[in-house]
Parts: sequence; structure tokens; C-alpha cells
Amino acid sequence: MKAAVLTKFGSVETAFELKEVLNPTLNDGQVLIQAEGFGLNYADIMAIQGDYKDCPPLPAIIGYDVVGKIIKTKGNCGNLKVGNRVTAMTRFGGYAELAVSESVACAVINDSLEVGKAMALTTQYSTAYYCFNEVQNLYKGDKVLIHAAAGGVGTALVQMAKDRGCEIFGTCGSDEKMEYLKSLGVHHPINYRKDDFYEVIKKINGDNKLDAIFDAVGGESVKKGFKLLGAGGSLVVFGAASITGKNIIGKLKTVLGFGWYHPLKFIMSSKAMIGVNMLRIGDSKPQVLKRCLENVVKQVEDKTLDPTVAKVFKIDELAGAHQYLKDRKSIGKITVVW
Ligand SMILES: NC(=O)c1ccc[n+]([C@@H]2O[C@H](COP(=O)([O-])OP(=O)(O)OC[C@H]3O[C@@H](n4cnc5c(N)ncnc54)[C@H](OP(=O)(O)O)[C@@H]3O)[C@@H](O)[C@H]2O)c1
Repeated sequence: MKAAVLTKFGSVETAFELKEVLNPTLNDGQVLIQAEGFGLNYADIMAIQGDYKDCPPLPAIIGYDVVGKIIKTKGNCGNLKVGNRVTAMTRFGGYAELAVSESVACAVINDSLEVGKAMALTTQYSTAYYCFNEVQNLYKGDKVLIHAAAGGVGTALVQMAKDRGCEIFGTCGSDEKMEYLKSLGVHHPINYRKDDFYEVIKKINGDNKLDAIFDAVGGESVKKGFKLLGAGGSLVVFGAASITGKNIIGKLKTVLGFGWYHPLKFIMSSKAMIGVNMLRIGDSKPQVLKRCLENVVKQVEDKTLDPTVAKVFKIDELAGAHQYLKDRKSIGKITVVW
């Protein structure tokens, strides 16, 4: 099979080689998928830059999500059958024509669902679903802040918050994204390149505080967010995009920027900080991953959710696809098709 193999850290232009490699083999409970394409995730940019701790040693086939047809199953794969079209999570190995997925990490989808939308459902929508629905309770009228709100996970969170009737604050880094956030129904879009989100939200909210914050930017953004959070609120931290591409001093500054939190601080203020890493959830609670994925597929079918497709690239445009994500131009999910 063909695979895009990460062979060198550094530039997106030289990081990957398109090669013939051996077909993968299956363990019990796994399926083999003939992929239509694979999804890009911000973690891939971190991997290319050597900033991603979970990335396998090079040469590596990275990639977290594929869409395609099951061509083989092994052992007990539940209801999944050869011929099913699925959206599937891969534990790396996604940047390949043939990809392996745990059967619990796949969901059957209609042939009519376009590949770009289907691709958004695994890593990004399932992560958003877990952060929004599984780690806390949010209600109509609750005030939520979503960082990188125009991104893959961000647009998913916005749609979930909108459906719940929350008042939404969303940060982004361009005027084009501001317009997009308005069109999605974000009540208070904030371009953080022009305005300090902390000051803007403090001004709008007065004495009222936020009920939830979703932060995958990390560093100072978390520290400021914690101050904006009210009693009973939770700050869900699921990434640290702001650490990418910095030298060791810059990384250290970002890490220190998060702030220091003694448990007493959480008790006294009655606030929560919740870390999320879907790889760990997949390892320890695969049934939770399955529940998240099945629920988002259902919600797309009943039109509660409608994934935003940033762009669908061809495989020979892989470097361009990575550059697009790295340059923070994308709104929604990026897919690469074979
Ligand atoms: N914990 C988990 O299990 C898990 C799972 C999936 C994703 N994630 C995390 O969730 C975040 C979103 O992932 P995604 O794949 O959907 O990507 P994405 O949001 O489509 O792209 C990343 C966006 O982050 C924003 N950003 C803000 N500050 C940044 C900075 N200092 N450097 C780079 N980007 C910055 C940029 O948008 P603006 O310029 O508009 O702000 C950029 O477009 C990532 O941090 C990712 O690592 C975590």
C-alpha cells in the first residue's frame, strides 16, 4: 500500500515521503479500512515540529482519522461488517491507503455523507462531544468561552453550545474567522490579535462569570481563563497549541504561563480544571470513545450538528494541506484524499 511517511522533523515541505510500505496486519477486534482519505489534526503539526510527545519514533505513519470501506475484520468486531462505510479513529497509521482501527473506534456512516464532513466526526467532534457532554453539565443560558472557535474542535464545540442554548464567547485570529463565527451564531466573537479576550469578556460580563471554558491554546490563556470562571464552572484544558514551534525558553515560558494551582484554590473558589486527552480515554475507557462517536454520528444524521469542511486536498498537495493548518488559515476540518 501507499503511505505518507513522516521521515524528518521540521518543514512541512520535506517532512513526508510518499512510499510503498507493507500492508498492516490486524489483531482481534480490529478492522482494516480501504481509506478514501485521512484527516489532519493540529497534533500532526506538533508531530512534524517534533513537539508531540505521543508521536511514534521516525519513520512513522501518523494520522488519527480515516473514512473508507471495511475490507477485513478480525475476531469480534460487533456489528461491523466487510463493506460498511465507516468514519474511524486510528491510533496513528491514518496517513495510508489501508488503515487499521479498533472496532469500538469506528461508526458506520451513510454513503451520501461527504468525506470532509465524515472525517470531522472522529477526532474533532468526538473530542468536542467528550469535553462538552461527558466531563460536566451545561444548561441553557450558561456562558461558555471557546478558544480557537473557528478550528476543527472549536466549530464542533460552538455547534454543541449553540444547540444547548448557551451564550457563546469565541476567540479566533482573523477577521474572516470573526465573520464565520458570527454566521455560526457565536454571540461574542473576539479577534485576540486585536483585543485581549480577558478584558473584552470582563467588560461584557461585569460581575457575571463564565460557566465553562474550552482551551486548547494553553499557557497564559488558561491563567486568564481561570480568573473569568465563576463558582461551579469548569475550565476544560485539552491542548497547548501555543507551545508549538517555540525554542526551549519559549516553551518554558508557556508552561509557566499556565499558572500554579493548589487543590485548596479549587475548593475555596469551587471551580474545576479538567484535563482531556482522548488517547488516554481510548486506552482506559474505549466504551466512552464509542459512545461519543456514535452520538455525534447520530446528531449529524438528525441534522443537530453539521461539520464545517475547511478544504479537501489531494495527496500530492499534502505539504500545502499542512501549511494551511500551520498558518492557522483553516476554518473547520481539513481532509486529504487518495
Ligand atoms: N486532548 C485531545 O485529546 C485533543 C484532541 C483533538 C484536538 N486537540 C487539540 O485541540 C486543538 C484544536 O485541534 P484541531 O485539530 O481542531 O485544530 P484547529 O483548531 O483546526 O487548528 C488550530 C487552531 O488553533 C488556533 N491557535 C490559537 N493559538 C495558537 C497558537 N499559539 N499556535 C497555533 N494555533 C493557535 C489557531 O486558530 P486562531 O488563530 O483562529 O486562534 C489554529 O487555527 C489543538 O490544540 C489540538 O492539539 C486535543
